[in-house]
Amino acid sequence: MSNYIERFRTSERVLHWFVSIAFFILLLSGLGLYSTLFNGYFSVFGGGKQAIVFHKIAGVLFFCASAFMFFNHKKDMTTFDADDKEWIAQRGGYLSRDEAHFNVGKYNPGQKIFAIFTGVATLVLGVTGIIIWGPQSFPRGLVQLSLMMHGLMFVLAAMFVVAHVYLATIGNPGTLEAMLYGDVRKIWAKKHHPKWFKELSGK
Ligand code: HEM
Repeated sequence: MSNYIERFRTSERVLHWFVSIAFFILLLSGLGLYSTLFNGYFSVFGGGKQAIVFHKIAGVLFFCASAFMFFNHKKDMTTFDADDKEWIAQRGGYLSRDEAHFNVGKYNPGQKIFAIFTGVATLVLGVTGIIIWGPQSFPRGLVQLSLMMHGLMFVLAAMFVVAHVYLATIGNPGTLEAMLYGDVRKIWAKKHHPKWFKELSGK
């Protein structure tokens, strides 16, 4: 009997890594546009003008792929049951000394909040990005507001993604396997997502 259980299909993993690569291209090309402090990062793209071209292309690809990823998981990510409320009330046990056990389904509420944030950030960054792209077509006040919102969302998204990468790798060993190979160890599933494991295996 196998010690593994399927968590993500190949298409889901390809989409996740596509979104991730687009995000990191946006981050690197956007840093120099955000502040002159980071102008050095333009050299990665061969100059400031080229960085803007990369930013626009990656922006369109990120918007489409990230929106698709959100709608793919919308049902799982936007419903919170009584067990999720308990997890939230106890902050997932992250602030407690004792080991906490929660009846978590396929995603814990922290992951759901991250996915919802990603959906909102994708929309805000996309809409404000289009306004900044063609500023002459929009009122001056709207362009200024968009510039501010775009920068703010960019900083928030970078912070959320740092936390996401930490929790999905060294913070919770065994999690990365899900996105790399599609399968996770049953022992990992029982520990982190017991309700989901029970639903799948009937145990
Ligand atoms: C090197 C960068 C990244 C790594 C190593 C990584 C890793 C992972 C892993 C292992 C999972 C599966 C978690 C599980 O099975 O419970 C996951 C899920 C997910 N990832 Fe990433 N990811 C990265 C970047 C990103 C980026 C840039 C975004 C979006 C902007 C993103 C969005 C998501 C979402 C929405 C999920 C599903 C919900 C969740 O597990 O939080 N990821 N990621």
